[in-house]
Amino acid sequence: MSAHWYTYPSADLAAQAGSRQILLHLEQALAGHSTASLAISGGSTPKLMLQHLAKAKFDWSRVHLFWVDERMVPPTDADSNYLLAEENFIKPARFPHRNLHRIQGELRADIAAEHYAVEMEEFFGLSAGELPHFDVIHLGIGADGHTASLFPGEPLIEDRKSMAAAVWVEKLSKWRVTLLPGVLLNARHVLMLVAGADKAEALKTVTEGAYEPLRYPAQLVAHHSRHLTWCVDREAASLVTA
Ligand code: 6PG
Repeated sequence: MSAHWYTYPSADLAAQAGSRQILLHLEQALAGHSTASLAISGGSTPKLMLQHLAKAKFDWSRVHLFWVDERMVPPTDADSNYLLAEENFIKPARFPHRNLHRIQGELRADIAAEHYAVEMEEFFGLSAGELPHFDVIHLGIGADGHTASLFPGEPLIEDRKSMAAAVWVEKLSKWRVTLLPGVLLNARHVLMLVAGADKAEALKTVTEGAYEPLRYPAQLVAHHSRHLTWCVDREAASLVTA
């Protein structure tokens, strides 16, 4: 495992650095393959990063865009992770629609998860039981230490075999679809983008606390990713020892 940590004075500089990391690893992937695969998270932090990606002079024609997780709402809903990407990246970057692989939030969660698994099987040409290797997976961390839609107490944190699942998030009383740990840990590169004072406690616990991934799911990625780059702002890093 290799990990790199970069702290920036502002959320925007961290987001800009995160977008550069994504472009770097996509370029590396495209140097050796006809396509590259990127999976992005949602929430609010990624907005600035997506805007920086949209401004980049980059040929997106061979990049395929997936999602780490999705809320079970239509793609036009304000809570949709797809809509966040469409408004801040897909439209302004003129990202090719044929290369989009969204999680169908308008469907029942278990059906959407099944469809998404089939879409990954087909795109990556997977045989039964095989997991995809995304070239880049972007993740965030919630103030409670969750990542993707793997929230504290989620038993699927132990799952290393399946690709995606519908998860009931008790604290939100909402269903979500999420990539599962086996896929997150299979990524060639993980970019973890964390910003804001509200993440300081979680970031300290995830990076320096006792290893309890069921309690702090983001620890799974922090401890076991093959190649992990942290782009964090000073506020989020304020409690982390140097
Ligand atoms: C989601 C995200 C989620 C996110 C964290 C951090 O759908 O909410 O995929 O895992 O990365 O919740 O979200 P913020 O960046 O908005 O704090």
